[in-house]
Amino acid sequence: WQFIYSFRKDRVPLVFHWVPWVGSAVTYGMQPYEFFADCQRKYGDVFAFVLLGKVMTVYLGPKGHEFILNAKLNDVCAEDAYKHLTTPVFGEGVIYDCPNWKLMDQKKFVKGSLTKDSFRSYVPKIRDEVLDYINNDTNFMGGDSKKKTGKTNVLNSQSELTILTASRSLLGDDMRKLLTKKWAKLFSDLDKGFTPLNFIFSHLPLPSYWTRDHAQKTISETYLSLINKRRATNDIGDRDLIDSLMKSSTYKDGSKMTDEEISHLLIGVLMGGQHTSASTSSWFLLHLGEKPELQEELFEEQERVLQGRELTYDDLANMPLHNQVIKETLRMHMPLHSIFRKVTRPLPVPNSKYVVPKGHYVLVSPGFAMTNDAYFPNASDFQPHRWDETVEPVSADAKETIDYGFGKVSKGVSSPYLPFGGGRHRCIGEHFAYCQLGTILNTFVRTFKWKAVVPQPDYTSMVTLPEPHLSTITWERRDN
Ligand code: HEM
Repeated sequence: WQFIYSFRKDRVPLVFHWVPWVGSAVTYGMQPYEFFADCQRKYGDVFAFVLLGKVMTVYLGPKGHEFILNAKLNDVCAEDAYKHLTTPVFGEGVIYDCPNWKLMDQKKFVKGSLTKDSFRSYVPKIRDEVLDYINNDTNFMGGDSKKKTGKTNVLNSQSELTILTASRSLLGDDMRKLLTKKWAKLFSDLDKGFTPLNFIFSHLPLPSYWTRDHAQKTISETYLSLINKRRATNDIGDRDLIDSLMKSSTYKDGSKMTDEEISHLLIGVLMGGQHTSASTSSWFLLHLGEKPELQEELFEEQERVLQGRELTYDDLANMPLHNQVIKETLRMHMPLHSIFRKVTRPLPVPNSKYVVPKGHYVLVSPGFAMTNDAYFPNASDFQPHRWDETVEPVSADAKETIDYGFGKVSKGVSSPYLPFGGGRHRCIGEHFAYCQLGTILNTFVRTFKWKAVVPQPDYTSMVTLPEPHLSTITWERRDN
């Protein structure tokens, strides 16, 4: 087949592989960026490789970002690439388990509630959750809240902290009493349905499927009961995402989301931010652990801005270094190293003789550009100060930038810096993520000094995580 393919002059170069069907799965799966760099040296920016029976066309660099993220709806489809993975986790009728126009409406419904006013009310809640967790959780204090020093595996702590803070803020105070270890465990069970194995073998009866389905059902029923309680007492305000979806989730064709669909969308939104934010805060804690001088700079920034006050949402915009730490972490560790679409109509590759046939997939990897010296000098160094001048190191063809109050980020999709993707599937959670991560970072810097050694990335799970067994920080309370 490889031989026949190589005779088609309109096909992009195919990466050589020995084992049919498996193709380049092992080299790509273990070290995707090294694999891409190697292919780039041999074939250029555009090439295809076989991944477990699927043909993936990769276009590296900003032109590839444009080609794939801005591809027309009639040409490529995200649903066909992700649905089998996400529907069992989120539930039916939402995100990729519905037509694309419904997803676009759902994103609008959610975005409508992610306002500055809501973030103002979220920051104190997130800070309270972090402090409560730090002081009381066994993962942190080992049951002794008076401890002055200790060791913590940040992959465990940040994963729990992310779900606790997101639930408390986005889902409101009703969630407060539900936020126990049992709740975090349910999300971790749900997570077990979110692995590369599920991506490949969606219909195998794996034991984790039972745990996943049980967690999905329990979480969805809990959200439904919160919705029912509010409906029964006509208690619908402007407090959180649940209120917002209960008030405005009528599609443009006039049909309404059912309460069950709302509960599934809540799961989708929380899961959308779960791995991504947990991995980001794990990475920044580890990097800062290697740079005590940066921790001190962050502490001084807080002292300067807060002058003894508690943190508010508006303070976050006045703490550029905190935001640059997050921005730099996302540059080095974009949680999703690959973004996929299925090709639904023969897709010509611009300025080339190549056409990607229907049924193949296209793969875009902004993370490859973001970790490349060609776009970011000394790309493998963690340097939050590289963003000091807010000079966006965008490629020549990405002119538009947008100021979110956190420094300028590129609006176009032809930027090399796209941690939140681009085009119609662009992330809606960027501002919430900055609010949540900024508050978590603030609270850690305020409470601790810590040390760590940054481990290598582990690419074998769905997001790019630090090597799980080496993700430990050694901390000391500042008020020691
Ligand atoms: C989409 C990254 C946090 C909800 C995306 C995409 C990326 C991304 C790269 C595009 C996926 C694609 O094109 O296939 C991130 C990162 C985050 C983050 C790096 C944090 C550091 C969040 C949060 C939420 C969220 C907190 C929810 C509040 C979504 C949703 C989509 C999305 C709903 C749209 C999916 C689509 O249209 O296909 N995110 N995300 N994300 N994200 Fe995020």
